[in-house]
Amino acid sequence: MTPTETRCTMTQIVLPTHTNNHGTVFGGQLAAWIDICAAVSAQRCAKGPVVTASIDQLHFVAPVKKGMVVELRSQVNRTWRSSMEVGVRVEAEHPFTGERSHCCTAYLTFVAIGQDEKTRPVPELALGEADDERRWAAAQDRREVRLTQRKGR
Ligand SMILES: CC(C)(COP(=O)(O)OP(=O)(O)OC[C@H]1O[C@@H](n2cnc3c(N)ncnc32)[C@H](O)[C@@H]1OP(=O)(O)O)[C@@H](O)C(=O)NCCC(=O)NCCS
Repeated sequence: MTPTETRCTMTQIVLPTHTNNHGTVFGGQLAAWIDICAAVSAQRCAKGPVVTASIDQLHFVAPVKKGMVVELRSQVNRTWRSSMEVGVRVEAEHPFTGERSHCCTAYLTFVAIGQDEKTRPVPELALGEADDERRWAAAQDRREVRLTQRKGR
């Protein structure tokens, strides 16, 4: 399995129910879409059930207005024993002009579980494309930060 084979693209239109009083999308709504898109990638890689173990800090760099099209693209960057890092890039697209802007990038950790709810091993990724190695190396740095933070709780 290569990172490319785990890719998922999810498209949403920002509807009134997704927005706050300013007519822009709720952060929590974006986080929910991010979680779903990333879960599809993680399941593809694990070939079985997964749970979200953590979501790294999310920074929303630009508001997304009602009526905009939101596109989320995810892929697994790295696997360890039972856990995987999934990266998600979120872009907003103007529905008529097609003009695009970057809204946020998210990193999530999923853990594969078996029927007994215990963690189970996931396959190692085979690096395919040029950017795979860069993402794979960066994922290790992020994991170390996460695990340090987890210990400190
Ligand atoms: C995630 C969960 C399965 C981990 O179970 P656990 O018994 O703590 O298992 P371990 O400590 O052995 O961790 C399993 C793996 O997850 C990783 N992990 C656990 N918590 C993590 C975190 N917060 N961030 C990053 N990685 C984490 C571990 O490093 C380990 O990785 P590895 O097997 O690839 O080396 C468990 O905490 C759980 O079920 N959490 C709730 C998940 C959930 O319901 N999510 C939905 C939102 S609430």
